[in-house]
Amino acid sequence: MYGTRRAPTTRFDPVCAENDMQRMKSIPMDGKTFPSRRAVIGGVAAVAGVARAGAALGASDALRTLPRIGMGTWITFDVGRDAAARDARADVLRAFFEEGGRMVDSSPMYGSAEDVMGHCLDRAGRDRVFAASKVWIPSVGFGPEQIAASRALWGVERFDLMQVHNLLSYEGHIETLRAMKADGAVGAIGVTTSHGRRHERLARIIEADDTLDSVQLTYNILDREAEARLLPMLAERGRTVIVNRPFRRGAIIENLRGRPLPGFAAEIGVETWSQYLLKWILSHPAAPIAIPATSSVPHMRENMAAMRGPMPDAAMRARMADHVRAL
Ligand SMILES: NC(=O)c1ccc[n+]([C@@H]2O[C@H](COP(=O)([O-])OP(=O)(O)OC[C@H]3O[C@@H](n4cnc5c(N)ncnc54)[C@H](OP(=O)(O)O)[C@@H]3O)[C@@H](O)[C@H]2O)c1
Repeated sequence: MYGTRRAPTTRFDPVCAENDMQRMKSIPMDGKTFPSRRAVIGGVAAVAGVARAGAALGASDALRTLPRIGMGTWITFDVGRDAAARDARADVLRAFFEEGGRMVDSSPMYGSAEDVMGHCLDRAGRDRVFAASKVWIPSVGFGPEQIAASRALWGVERFDLMQVHNLLSYEGHIETLRAMKADGAVGAIGVTTSHGRRHERLARIIEADDTLDSVQLTYNILDREAEARLLPMLAERGRTVIVNRPFRRGAIIENLRGRPLPGFAAEIGVETWSQYLLKWILSHPAAPIAIPATSSVPHMRENMAAMRGPMPDAAMRARMADHVRAL
């Protein structure tokens, strides 16, 4: 049923509104009854066999060995059927792989991004990709169907990481994901939040749920809510931290545009503000993976260079944050 990739049918307002339920209305249901969770989990058994055979590393180990800069796809890859834009995004993905990248993060919430990702993977190849997407639907029973649809759009045999987007229906979806992981139908499992929202609930989940391989949250030089409690909790428990909105959807770089880098940036091999911001994130003791989004090949190459060279120590991190705050 999902053997071929489908044309994108989902659009949403790119302004990241809090109201997930409202956006849910845009999810295509095609008027059909989705199969039960059990049926779909059973149906992926063939995929699971392939996955198990290739799974030399455990899910958590696979996450821990990834390059520390991944790629986001929100808005930047939501280009619909525009052929030139789709090919331009394939160039971005190719540059990402050439620079050593592996983790690509998307979601059924991101309009046509998953369909565009399938197109880009057709062109750039699937060998390097560590495919991370999300389940984002209120009805837990429809979760497996949504994951299967995403898998078909990407054209991957299974997701290396499947996350519960914005903790929506977390209690039910996480059960599905645990079952799929046990079956080898997904690799790692995790949850996401953003914009500093839902941190109290997230802290309770991290405390209670020792099955999570990763937690995705917002952390950047200006949005530091996660520092006080969540990041130390995650580091202590050995969970992989994935950082979204490293540039606050580009706004931080925009505000710094035209200002000279401070002299001390050269000490850590930083040549641009994007590298300054990314090195600051990557050097947190929780060793996060940052997933900046870009539609530009030069920006991709510039961002990926932040993985290389010296990293700031604690004193340098404090100096960097103070400097940006003072501007
Ligand atoms: N709840 C969730 O699960 C959640 C929520 C938010 C985000 N996310 C994930 O996190 C990813 C990243 O967050 P984000 O997309 O909100 O924003 P972001 O990565 O903080 O910023 C992306 C913006 O930065 C610009 N940019 C990137 N590199 C640049 C460079 N070197 N120089 C100048 N500008 C640059 C891009 O413009 P150009 O295209 O011009 O480069 C783009 O407009 C998302 O794409 C998504 O995968 C998840």
